[in-house]
Amino acid sequence: MNIHSVNETIEKVKSDIQHVSTAEDLELFRLKYLVRKGIVQQMFEGLKTAASEERPLLGKALNELRKTAQQLYDDKKRDLEQLKTTSREGIDLTIPGRRRPVGTKHPVTQALDDMTDIFKSMGFAVALGPEIEDDFHNFEALNFPPDHPARDMQDTFFLDKTALLRTHTSPVQIRVMMNRKPPIRHIMPGRVYRNEAISARSYCMFHQLEGLAVDENITFAELKGTLATFAKKFFGSTVKYVFRPSFFPFTEPSAEMDISCFLCKGKGCRVCKQTGWLEILGCGMVDPNVFKAVGYDPEKVTGYAFGMGIDRTTLLLYGIDDIRMLYENDVRLLNQFT
Ligand code: PHE
Repeated sequence: MNIHSVNETIEKVKSDIQHVSTAEDLELFRLKYLVRKGIVQQMFEGLKTAASEERPLLGKALNELRKTAQQLYDDKKRDLEQLKTTSREGIDLTIPGRRRPVGTKHPVTQALDDMTDIFKSMGFAVALGPEIEDDFHNFEALNFPPDHPARDMQDTFFLDKTALLRTHTSPVQIRVMMNRKPPIRHIMPGRVYRNEAISARSYCMFHQLEGLAVDENITFAELKGTLATFAKKFFGSTVKYVFRPSFFPFTEPSAEMDISCFLCKGKGCRVCKQTGWLEILGCGMVDPNVFKAVGYDPEKVTGYAFGMGIDRTTLLLYGIDDIRMLYENDVRLLNQFT
């Protein structure tokens, strides 16, 4: 061993560390140079047999070798550990994830779901019908006379000679009655279409919730009880209600139900137009002619039906003053219903 071979070893150490890229490589480097039986220690052993005049210089060079090997080892070890925490692709796995924006139920859907839950708890099942209907289901079976103004092009969207967009959910009553036998207790939610000028108060499409109960001995008292229970659950237990006589071709007698304005509690405000009352639905006892149209015996069964609009009630509930806002899907509005 001489000064030259020590310097050569220092160069070898420097080139070896260049080739270390994994923890295993680094361990091999350590075993080669830094352990007790490694090259560095072996060379120190050689110091004992070296000529005494060479020892000071040799010792200095050997110390340099040991320092270099240890330093290069420590630096490489730190580099490899840093690489591990950022992963090989350089992805920092410790950064918190990004939240995905989650949508919410549209206020109309929310109101419809709440109403549906209430009627379900009273024993009603849900039935659905098509939005494209024919004259029989939408008008004829519901006892509309042939010259009834609702059949006019002004009110109804006709698709062709026989097909039309349903103007109310009442045709689903006909479908339910023709598909099953009494007792019937169903609600029928859905979209309806009317050819109306679009304004802040009316739209060409809106939502209704229809109800139908048919059995022996169903009375108007049961209709009133059911709707009063619904109103208290949906609008709050202090709500007042009144049934006014009305007319529909498919119910006799017919009524409309008003509830006390939930904004001013009946005192009179802009929403209820100072009357203190809000009209929420039409209802009545199923007309015998409707039973005949679906093949039921009006002498054996009676029934009641009701139909309420969802959209106007939703507007009132949230104090929205333009019905068009419900259908524009402006996220600035929808965001407020989280
Ligand atoms: N179909 C009626 C409407 O659209 C509402 C209604 C349904 C009335 C059931 C009585 C019974 O106005």
